[in-house]
Amino acid sequence: MLSERMTKALNEQMNKEMYSAYLYMDMSAHCTYSGLGGFANWFMVQYQEEMSHAMKIYDYINEQGGKVVLNSIEKPPGNFGTPLEMFEATLKHEQFITESIHGLVELAYEEKDYATQIFLQWFVTEQIEEEANDNELIAKLRLVGDEGNGLFMIDKELESRTFNPPKK
Ligand code: FEO
Repeated sequence: MLSERMTKALNEQMNKEMYSAYLYMDMSAHCTYSGLGGFANWFMVQYQEEMSHAMKIYDYINEQGGKVVLNSIEKPPGNFGTPLEMFEATLKHEQFITESIHGLVELAYEEKDYATQIFLQWFVTEQIEEEANDNELIAKLRLVGDEGNGLFMIDKELESRTFNPPKK
């Protein structure tokens, strides 16, 4: 059973995951418009991942007999700039999400909510991977610069990313 405070915090996290999906969908559109199909694919897969994160929380609240509450989703900022700037913004956003997940873990400990502590472990691990992916791409983009053959090659590489739904 979830406390009222925990239910509210999980609903807020679900909204943040939905916003993340919306943000990456917008970034994907920006990349398509800029002729960067591989980057567009990467961000669209990221969109799918974020939707699956939101649904994981949605299912958990339901399973625990809590009330899912849907709030409005903020508009993404647009003006995403170069691929390097986009990945720097992505990393910054993921660091914000990591902090938010850690806040939830702290709340679960404070409330002695053992089930939610276990549930959140998956997200803690996922955030390590998300930040590592962004850091890797930032390093590559810094190496090749924001144009020319190097960028074309990274774009090609990102075409192959596929979405693997998380296991239950
Ligand atoms: Fe669902 Fe990218 O954090």
